Amino acid sequence: MSTSTSTEKITEVGHNRFGFDSRIEVDTLRSLYLTPSYIKSGDKTTHVGAPHKDYGTESVYDKDSNKIQYTTFAKFPPVRLLPNSERKRILVTGGAGFVGSHLVDRLMLLGHEVTVLDNFFTGSRTTVSHWVGHPNFEMVRHDVVEPFLIEVDQIYHLACPASPPHYQYNAVKTIKTSFMGTLNMLGLAKRTKARFLITSTSEVYGDPEEHPQREDYWGHVNCIGPRACYDEGKRVAETLTYGYQRQDGVDVRVARIFNTFGPRMNPYDGRVVSNFILQALKGEDMTVYGDGSQTRSFQYVHDLVDGLILLMNGPETRPVNIGNGHEFTILEFAEAVRDIVEDIQKEQGVANPKRVNIIHKELPTNDPQRRRPDTTRAKETLEWQPRWAVRQGVEEMVRYYQSQIAQGNI
Ligand SMILES: NC(=O)c1ccc[n+]([C@@H]2O[C@H](COP(=O)([O-])OP(=O)(O)OC[C@H]3O[C@@H](n4cnc5c(N)ncnc54)[C@H](O)[C@@H]3O)[C@@H](O)[C@H]2O)c1
Repeated sequence: MSTSTSTEKITEVGHNRFGFDSRIEVDTLRSLYLTPSYIKSGDKTTHVGAPHKDYGTESVYDKDSNKIQYTTFAKFPPVRLLPNSERKRILVTGGAGFVGSHLVDRLMLLGHEVTVLDNFFTGSRTTVSHWVGHPNFEMVRHDVVEPFLIEVDQIYHLACPASPPHYQYNAVKTIKTSFMGTLNMLGLAKRTKARFLITSTSEVYGDPEEHPQREDYWGHVNCIGPRACYDEGKRVAETLTYGYQRQDGVDVRVARIFNTFGPRMNPYDGRVVSNFILQALKGEDMTVYGDGSQTRSFQYVHDLVDGLILLMNGPETRPVNIGNGHEFTILEFAEAVRDIVEDIQKEQGVANPKRVNIIHKELPTNDPQRRRPDTTRAKETLEWQPRWAVRQGVEEMVRYYQSQIAQGNI
């Protein structure tokens, strides 16, 4: 199997479309998640992170005492200077999470005023700490289940745990977050006349009987299964969203996101990409559930952020699938991750002494067999399509996890 759909070196992400210019250099984004870090052991200090030292944070991990020292630099990354008429006030709920933090980086670098609302259930302040103190940035600890008042132009509503162990940890809270959180944010959008975008999910299609999944497919969801708190929560959140559109004229956007991966993904939440990469990096057996013939498609987080920004600023108000249609079996994907990790380790001269094994465990309940987006609508209405080959994204993530392991964070 080839995990590569393109060998193009991507140096810039974003688009200048629908009157909203979202282009940013990849190196600038990279410098925000690959911050400079050093490991001290005895008299020796090794540099493990990115070379950018001008802004952000720096960490020095002392292996002997198992202590870490963080330093915040006085300079922020340069952000675009926008005229008042173009600078938007943007609320990002769940902005301290995996996807949210990348969206926040992009919106900040583009010169907008960003407020992050998060209860830090699965997110962490560290994902966006490089912006704390910036005049365009504000971070608020708040639970979206409670109402929140603010004056804004756009609301990206992401707040909701996204991985099965987290959303199943307190299923009732997950449903509350989906329903009451969305109700509160739609109420805010109605009052402020802000445009509202919700990050829904491919899980609304359940264990689908149609492949690939188009937006007009109604889904096949078990309403009482262990995943229902998330799947049905998102379905009712979409229902609410279109209820507010029909009844109150709220300007809404619905993104149905398929599996996404990238730096800052929680290493311990059991998602397949992070599991495989970490197991391969640590030389542990890689776990495939079932026989591995179930398929998935994976998109890189920068592609998703491009899609979200285009959807928010474009004209399409119907649900839009945002995902990568390139489909792999889980077993093929495990083998590809193992190859990529081995290639990087060889290049660095730190190869594991023996090849890691791929082992099989029992398939969890209601694990969908196939999932692949039909992204025709995104292509036609937003001119969006994924650009990052899975191999390119996995390489980025391997380097990110390597630096996290080296710093003692994993
Ligand atoms: N990552 C994916 O592959 C994927 C796929 C489909 C949909 N999505 C959707 O994208 C969004 C972001 O997902 P993610 O992968 O970044 O997940 P994440 O868990 O990393 O981020 C979710 C964020 O929401 C916050 N949050 C949770 N409940 C909250 C509450 N009640 N009040 C305030 N904040 C709360 C968390 O602390 C976290 O920062 C979610 O809505 C998710 O359903 C993600």
